[in-house]
Order: sequence, then C-alpha cells, then structure tokens
Amino acid sequence: MNERIYLNNDWYFTEDWSRLDEDSLKKVRLPHTCREIPYHYCSDQDYQMVSGYRRTLDVPEEWRGKTLLLTFDGAAHQATVYINGVEAASHYCGYTAFTMDISRMVKYGRANEITVKLDSRESLNIPPFGFVIDYMTYGGIYRDVYLDIKQQTYIRDIFIHADIDAKADSKARVISEIELAGATPGGSRSLKIRQSIRPHNTASYTTLGESSAKTAVLDFPIEDIQLWSPDSPALYDIKTELLFTGREEPVDSVVTTIGFRSAQFRKDGFYLNGEKLRIRGLNRHQSYPYVGYAMPDEIQKRDADILKYELGLNAVRTSHYPQSQAFIDRCDEVGLLVFTEIPGWQHIGDAAWKEQAVANVKDMILQYRNHPSIILWGVRINESMDDDELYSKTNSMAHALDPTRQTGGVRYIKKSSLLEDVYTYNDFSHTGDNSGCEKKSSVTSDKSRAYLISEYNGHMYPTKSYDDEEHRLSHALRHANVLEDASAESDIAGTFGWCMFDYNTHKDFGSGDRICHHGVMDMFRNPKLAAAVYASQQDETPVLEISSSMDIGEHPGGNRGDIYIFTNADSVRMYRNGEFIKEYVPDRSRGSRYRHLQHPPILVDDFIGDALESSENMPHNQAAALRGLLNEIARFGLNDLPKASYAKAMRLLLKYRMSVSEATELYTKYIGGWGGESTVYEFAAIKDGAEVKRISRGPVGEKHLHVEADRTSLAEGKSYDAAAVRIRMVDEYGNTLHFANDPVILKAEGSVELIGPAVISLQGGMGGTYVRTIGEIGEGRLIITTPEGLKEEIVFSVSRADQI
Ligand code: GAL
Repeated sequence: MNERIYLNNDWYFTEDWSRLDEDSLKKVRLPHTCREIPYHYCSDQDYQMVSGYRRTLDVPEEWRGKTLLLTFDGAAHQATVYINGVEAASHYCGYTAFTMDISRMVKYGRANEITVKLDSRESLNIPPFGFVIDYMTYGGIYRDVYLDIKQQTYIRDIFIHADIDAKADSKARVISEIELAGATPGGSRSLKIRQSIRPHNTASYTTLGESSAKTAVLDFPIEDIQLWSPDSPALYDIKTELLFTGREEPVDSVVTTIGFRSAQFRKDGFYLNGEKLRIRGLNRHQSYPYVGYAMPDEIQKRDADILKYELGLNAVRTSHYPQSQAFIDRCDEVGLLVFTEIPGWQHIGDAAWKEQAVANVKDMILQYRNHPSIILWGVRINESMDDDELYSKTNSMAHALDPTRQTGGVRYIKKSSLLEDVYTYNDFSHTGDNSGCEKKSSVTSDKSRAYLISEYNGHMYPTKSYDDEEHRLSHALRHANVLEDASAESDIAGTFGWCMFDYNTHKDFGSGDRICHHGVMDMFRNPKLAAAVYASQQDETPVLEISSSMDIGEHPGGNRGDIYIFTNADSVRMYRNGEFIKEYVPDRSRGSRYRHLQHPPILVDDFIGDALESSENMPHNQAAALRGLLNEIARFGLNDLPKASYAKAMRLLLKYRMSVSEATELYTKYIGGWGGESTVYEFAAIKDGAEVKRISRGPVGEKHLHVEADRTSLAEGKSYDAAAVRIRMVDEYGNTLHFANDPVILKAEGSVELIGPAVISLQGGMGGTYVRTIGEIGEGRLIITTPEGLKEEIVFSVSRADQI
C-alpha cells in the first residue's frame, strides 16, 4: 500500500547556496531556521540570504512504477528544488506547501540527491515583500518535508464539507469533491470510491457508501452525528478509498478529519450551527524567540492550547499568513474558530506580485479547506488599499474553491470597497478613556453585510512586562474596554485583539529593540496582566488576579491609584492581615463600566473594612465617614484629592473633634503602612459558596525560581521534539516579582539540548527557554540556576514515537 516517509533528518545546510558542494556543511534537522537571532536588537539582515540544503534520498527498486510525491510544507520564502541537479519545482510563497511528482526524475535502486536553493531575501518580488512589514519574515525550511509513495492512480485531492440539517441537528450529509490523478489501466470505469466514517481517532469505521470513481462528487446522508463547536469540538475521520472493482485492496486511501458545523456571518453577527456566537479572539504570529518560525508541531499546538485554555478564547486570527497544519489541527481539536488569510502587509506590488497573491489564495484554500475550525478566508493583503481588480480575483477564487465559506479582507480604511462578505476592520480608535470601538454604521460601507473587528490596541499601547504597574493596568483595562464596548454592539460579530504575544519586528516598528511589545503575553508566552482580562471571561478554570503588588512606593506620590480584581468567581473576599475587609461582587448594574462582560473587572475601593470600629473602637458613623475618606486618599493621594473630599475631611475633623495628627496616624496605619507590622492582603475567590483560589500580597521576604515545562515526555518521531519552559522569579506567595531582571543560567544534559542562549536575563521577572531532543532515547535534564544560588531542575524522558 501507500506510505509516507518524512524527510526531516540528515539535511546538510549552508548559508551560501554557491558553496553547497563543499564537504564541511552543517548537518541539520527540520524544522530549521537559516540563522538563529538574538531575543532583542536582532536584524532582518541576519536571516536574509540565499541558502542551500542538500540530502540524499534512497529510492529502492520496488518503487519503480509508483508515484513519488515530494512535499515541502513550508520553506521561507522562494524555493527551487532539484533532484540530481535537475530542477523539479519552484515555489514562490514561504507560507504554503508545495508538492512535486519526482517519479520520473529519480534513479531507482540507488541514492538520489535532493538540493534546495532557498531565497529568504526581503527584496523578492512576492508577498509579503516590497515595502515595510511589521514582523520578521525569517528563513529556512521550517516545516516538514515528506515523500508520499502512491500507486500510479491515486487521490490527488479531497474537499469534504458537511451539510448539517438545521431542523434535525443530528442529521447531516457528507459531501466530498474528489480529484483523482494518474493513468488508470482500464479507465476510470474500473474504479470505485468507498467512504467510511468514525469519531476521530476511535477504533472502527462505519461504511458511508460506495460510488463509481467517475463521479467527482460523493454525497452520503448520515445520522446521529455530534456537531462541532468551541464548547464541544466533535471531530470525525472520513476514510476515502480508491478501489478497482472486484478487488478488496484499495489503490489509495486517505483519511480526512472533519467536523459537522455551519458557520455564517450575517449582518447582525456570527452564527455557528444556527446560533449567534460572539467571536472573542486574539491575533497570532507563528514566531518564537531565537528560531523564528522553526518550531516543531507540539510547540505550534501549544499556542492553540494557550489561546483556548489559558486565555479562554474561542477564536484566533492567523495574522498575516496561513500557519502550520499542526496548529490548525489543534484548533480543530480544542474548538478554536480560525480566521486565516493570505500573506501580506499593507503593500501591493506589480502584476507578477499580484498574480502570486491570487495563487496564494488558491493554495491556502486547497490546503486548509477541510478544517472545521476555519470560518473565514482573508483574501485581501492585510491593511492594503482598495484594488478592485485584484480583490475581485481573490474573492472569486475563494468562492469558486470553497462555496461553503465567506470571505473577509482586513483593512484600516473606513467605507472602503467591499467585495468580501464580511467587513473586517482594524479598529484602533481606543485611546484609554474614550469608547472602546467605533460603531459598525460609521465604519462599514454596506450595513447589510457582516462586520468584524480584526485588530485593536496593539501599537496604541505597547506594554512590557517590566513596565510600571500603572502602565500594565492601563494595558489590561484597554483590552477590557474594547471587549466591553464591542459586546454592547449587537451587530459586531466579534473581536480579535492585537495580539497574543510580543514578536520580533523590523526597525520601523517596535520599541527600538526590534520587538513589538503588543502581546498580552511576552515572547515566551508568559502572561502580562492583560492576559487575565481574557482568562477571566471563561468559566472552566478559576481565575483570580490582582492588578497591584500593593507596594505604594511603586506609584507616583505613593498613591495607589486604581486597583482591579480580574476574576470569574462569584465574589472575592479581601482580608488585611487576616482581618476581613470586604466581599467584592462584580457590578453588572446599569451604569457600571463593564456590565456587558460575562465577568466584569472589579475595582478595589476599601482597604480598611470594619477595622476602625473593631480595632479603634470608633463609633459606627464616624468610622464609616473616615473609612470613605481614607480610601479616597489611598486612591488619589492627598495632593490630587478631589475638592469635595477636602471639604468632607474638614467637616469630619470638626464634627468628631479629631486632630489632624490623629487622622494622619490612622492613615499611616491603614493605608501607608510605614513602620508598622507587615501588611499582608489576601484575596479569596468564591464560587458556588466555596473558595476556589487565593492570592496573598505582602512585602517580599523570599525569592524562588518557578519553572514550568509544557511537557516532560518528549518523543523522537518524524523529527526532533521540543518542550517550552517558562521561568518566573516569585515571592513566598507565588507572586511574580516584576522587577527581578536576574540572570538565569541554563544547562541541558543527556538527551535534550537548549534552543537559544545558555544565559538569559529575566524580564519583568519572567523568561523562558526551549529544549529539543537530539536523536537519543533516554533521560534529559534542564538545570536552571541563578548566580545567587537558586536552582531548579526539570527531567525529560525522550522515547521513540510509536506512530509518525
Ligand atoms: C496593524 C497591523 C498589525 C500590527 C498592528 C500593531 O496595523 O495589521 O500587523 O502591525 O497594527 O498594532
């Protein structure tokens, strides 16, 4: 039967294509980056080159007469592949796969040579190049390479879409458009196609039906299916077999994983399976520290898990290009809606360039259209100007290849030409104290069509994890403001914030350090405060985050300013040195700032509680008045105290015959906290009457390293495997120490090695690293130390994957 062989190992690489013949080439494994770059202050010059890759391919005699299909899943950016020195294919897009039939080019019964000339210069006349780009484009063969060994006749392509019956939600039809390839002895009349189905990855298939291979479209009814949705991402495997009539052994067999669902953008929003669903997502680049795009499947998939489980989102936009199949497969599995788009950034090039953009639409759709998670095709160059001629072509290409999905095209211009089904707009109008978004009617050129916000925030408020507390809070609240105000608009289908994590960029963007600090996470996927805004909107895992470390000295004038609780709990109890102060309940009343959010952020407005009565023996009315005043001073500071509060203070002192020094003493004791015992605030999240999470904030007494690997069981499979490690410096309560920028020394031993440098500095108390397998089975270790003597160790086990 047919088989697939991965060709990710044993490549020889040179940064200079003209030196590919030399013996001293470096041996590499895919995914590979043509040059590792530093975390910040990197340069696009580092990876711009015409590099070369070479490896041998043993082609046994038994393969003679078969079809040998060689596929590159991703090579940045312009690739020419040679077999034994003869050109086999060229591809002009770094973000889509390409396949070539090499059956007639190889020599059977001996070793053949595959060479790849790979151009990663940004001067190429293909998307996204031609002007500035706000992200690094990297270089290298950074996704899988594999060889499919097929019979002469084989299934070239299948597009399966499932029509669901809106009236009976467990009934559907499996519709498959099938394209066969290769010469068929006896003609296609002698061939038939059989399809069967099973719930994803379960043991046995049930036959759907058979049909003559002459029919290009198969249509089988099915009952008792479960629909696919973010809450219940039920997947099914469809096996399509090509058989000669009268013979049981199939000529070809392809398994396609699908989901039954309907997805439609209407003028008043997005509907999944006939029900309105508000899209809440973030934009994701596919880049990582040091190695750019070159990370194996498990690391790609982890981003989908973070979006879904850590950030509680239901959607992602793959800005600004199609991303790895592994990532999208994981979106199918976990239930993340995907808006994917063609490569590009603002610039539109000449005729040849535009032709390539149309080709990119074709490749994107052919390669990704079976994924149930994909709900919208982006067929404009991100943020480009109107070009009706070009975009008529991209839209009709998309609709012809996939009549089941709508198109969008991301723009920052209002009332622009709308050839797409959905007006997808980057709304950067929010500046912190105005409305979070614009109204649909003021943006779109056609109110009868759907409207979606494809980006917000981002460059409007770059935020580093080591920025001061006020800045980090403002960043978080800006995300909350947009979510809230967009939720209040019933005709906005949803929002994609900019963006999931910080990313390396060109000199024209970012903070001068070649990083756009736009993420709600840093480059290692460590959460900034804004991540808690998203995380707190889901109901699966308890979330409790407090915006402040409670150190008044962090704030100008020692005034605490606003402190927010981000939580999905029913209420939060606050304690001061063990004494109960207040139970906070989210405010969903009319007039409250965040009433449309499922879980509104909560403002902390009391640091005193009943203490003035219970510990100072103050009469109730006096205590209540003084408490109000002291809390206002805590928030605004004496210098910026509202006038009304001054008047209140005077009245209070007079009425209760208090001296200024008495009042000051109480301020120092309950708000300032100087010289007194250490103040420890505790917050307990209460859900359904039980405490589900607790946070303590007090003076830092101890420093600990907190290290966390996403996985410790790694497997050598189709290539190396890798694990992501997040590192934080925390206090005795587990709180991140935002100003601990300590050096950390990393050492990998045994069957794993480090990706990136062996010494890093924490930034904002956080950092990370990656380890990868080196082809050896057994134990690997990562030892993490600091010059102060803190030490942590992670043990990895590396096995051989049973299945590739
Ligand atoms: C948008 C652009 C994104 C990113 C973002 C920063 O204009 O589409 O790629 O640059 O701004 O906020």
